Amino acid sequence: MKIIQVHSKLNIYLILFVILLVIVLPPSTAKISCSKVSSALKKEKSVEYNDLKKCLESFPFNATLATETVDAVLHFLSSYYVFFDRAKEEPPSGFTYQPVDLKNELNSIRKKQFNSDYDFSGFNYDQGLHLYSVVKTDKNKKKKQVFDDIVDSSNNDCEVIKIGGKSALQAIIDFANGTIQYSKDLNVRFNMALAPSQPIIQRHIFQQFNLREDFPETSSIKYQLTCPKKGSVSLERKWIITHEDGFGGFSLNCLEQDNKPTFSLNENFASSDKATKLTSRDKITNSTLNNDPKIAHAQMIDDGSLYLLNDGSKTGVVIISVERVKDENHLKNDFQKLKKHGAKKIILDMSNNPGGDITFSIFLTSILFSSKQPNSFPTDIIINDFTIPKIEKNFKKNSTDPEDYDVYNPKFFLSFPFGKPFNSSGDFIGTRKNRTSNLYLNTLTLDENKLLKNVSFPWTNDDIIIITNGFCASACALITLYLSEIHKVKTIAVGGLFEDQMSFSTYPSGEVSSSNDIADYAGDNITNIPGINSLSLTVREAYSFDENKNVKDVLEYSYKPADCRLYYDEKNVRDPSLLWLEASKILNNEVKC
Ligand SMILES: *[C@@H]1O[C@H](CO)[C@@H](O)[C@H](O)[C@H]1NC(C)=O
Ligand SMILES: *[C@@H]1O[C@H](CO)[C@@H](O)[C@H](O)[C@H]1NC(C)=O
Ligand SMILES: *[C@@H]1O[C@H](CO)[C@@H](O)[C@H](O)[C@H]1NC(C)=O
Ligand SMILES: *[C@@H]1O[C@H](CO)[C@@H](O)[C@H](O)[C@H]1NC(C)=O
Ligand SMILES: *[C@@H]1O[C@H](CO)[C@@H](O)[C@H](O)[C@H]1NC(C)=O
Ligand SMILES: *[C@@H]1O[C@H](CO)[C@@H](O)[C@H](O)[C@H]1NC(C)=O
Ligand SMILES: *[C@@H]1O[C@H](CO)[C@@H](O)[C@H](O)[C@H]1NC(C)=O
Ligand SMILES: *[C@@H]1O[C@H](CO)[C@@H](O)[C@H](O)[C@H]1NC(C)=O
Repeated sequence: MKIIQVHSKLNIYLILFVILLVIVLPPSTAKISCSKVSSALKKEKSVEYNDLKKCLESFPFNATLATETVDAVLHFLSSYYVFFDRAKEEPPSGFTYQPVDLKNELNSIRKKQFNSDYDFSGFNYDQGLHLYSVVKTDKNKKKKQVFDDIVDSSNNDCEVIKIGGKSALQAIIDFANGTIQYSKDLNVRFNMALAPSQPIIQRHIFQQFNLREDFPETSSIKYQLTCPKKGSVSLERKWIITHEDGFGGFSLNCLEQDNKPTFSLNENFASSDKATKLTSRDKITNSTLNNDPKIAHAQMIDDGSLYLLNDGSKTGVVIISVERVKDENHLKNDFQKLKKHGAKKIILDMSNNPGGDITFSIFLTSILFSSKQPNSFPTDIIINDFTIPKIEKNFKKNSTDPEDYDVYNPKFFLSFPFGKPFNSSGDFIGTRKNRTSNLYLNTLTLDENKLLKNVSFPWTNDDIIIITNGFCASACALITLYLSEIHKVKTIAVGGLFEDQMSFSTYPSGEVSSSNDIADYAGDNITNIPGINSLSLTVREAYSFDENKNVKDVLEYSYKPADCRLYYDEKNVRDPSLLWLEASKILNNEVKC
């Protein structure tokens, strides 16, 4: 099952379907292969690549399902996706991606000939090693290294010279450029191809080069290394193939039923909350470079998310790795503890943050800069003939119960720029043809407002710095961009490609919703994408604004590089406190960036 992300326009048709052009095999061969797969899974062994390939390819192509899927995807994208038109345009300078005419691409899928239909995933393909990238200061050249090779630890700290016959760096760049989605900035995608240096919530977003979820093109990858002790080494790694659900589960039923896919897949995979979901791959692979990072240069104050640097600068570090409303009280406590410890400066480490609740963003900004709300960017949504009656109905219902949240409910928004409640559905709809007027989200609850009441912190914007590895996504992007643009908080991006500017955030889009929620909100007759596929898309588009509160650029399409840049080396890739020390020097004006 695929979760379709439409934030990124890259290779949209590749991620819509995992339907490949393959040779149809005689059923008997396929059946044998499928039973081998099934038997390997039962024995908790890695599945043989060729067995899985034959088995997957034997699933017959369902043309009806394909047509219905393309119809539904096109319907949702053209009716609700705020970047539908923008996606066709060339990228602004700083971004690297291919423009996509979604309508044409989807229609071209209709004309393609497919022979098989392996429309489910759930398998993990693991090379059993960690790749990371460092910038060598001596030669000022970047190289990539194998680190913590979980199959053969004698490969730790070897430099990777070639991958599959290509220069290692180029191989990773090409993979990041052609295969990885999520960010429009190639530097961020480059980081995402490699092992994360800190524990993370959503593992499958990182380590994408050698820990995959899509069926790899080849059964193995060849590496050429130069090792500190062993010298030149060549090795070939087969994929270790395991199943997302550990071993067994639905896949056995699926594979054993005479090659007929039943598609009764784990539903929660499609509908679960992206921000909080932990994939079960954690159980079967060790995908983090540093599951238990050494923090040698800071003292932990609280449960792994709060530190004080021990460089004498009285700098506190708050690690924010997800945005959840239930963590707001904890966040407030963190700031209060730092105040108590006499912290003069604050580093917000927001690396590897997949986003979460949008109100958390408003809350964080409000607690640090208790300036007048709404502390958020203006947005708008697409409207059409059938959503207008829905907006009018919601307005009359006059409910602000969070249970009734709906993008077409004017009660959950305030007008831009004055932040006033809408007095009529007409004000909300505005005068434009297919977009609403500009809206602020207005969802801080009573509880959140209560938490904000009794706080006062000594820090100004000059005392705060944000550090990320570029993967600070969605709600995280909205916070960091807001703090940077509106409150002039400095930002640092870590990693990426040498000598490029780099984004500190990714897909600020506005608000992402699933097709079934959208259908429900809009009262759409097409209620979802058929079969096991799922589709999420951006339904609200966020904008930057100027001092006079005029709406400026679409944030998703604005390249916003960090003020400062740091690179990974052999040490700080294992100990983030070394990066915090650098950030502290910048904060305390000891170094310019
Ligand atoms: C093909 O897909 C359609 C639509 O989802 C479904 O009704 C039908 O049962 C499928 N056919 C087979 C052979 O699986
Ligand atoms: C990324 O891919 C696009 C499309 O294939 C290509 O035009 C571009 O040159 C590539 N960029 C880099 C830096 O490799
Ligand atoms: C993952 O790491 C843990 C602890 O470092 C180890 O016990 C376990 O065997 C590893 N798992 C795999 C699949 O390598
Ligand atoms: C909506 O409800 C609030 C109280 O919940 C009330 O004060 C307000 O007048 C109502 N507005 C309309 C338009 O009915
Ligand atoms: C709604 O009416 C109030 C009272 O007249 C006014 O202050 C406010 O600006 C109006 N809201 C909008 C969005 O115009
Ligand atoms: C919205 O309106 C603009 C201008 O009237 C038009 O160019 C655009 O195609 C419309 N978009 C949609 C999704 O209907
Ligand atoms: C407000 O904060 C002060 C100290 O920071 C505390 O003594 C007081 O109880 C707080 N009041 C409320 C209502 O939380
Ligand atoms: C749903 O179907 C009804 C009856 O065919 C039609 O009147 C209505 O416009 C449709 N609504 C949407 C949102 O397509």
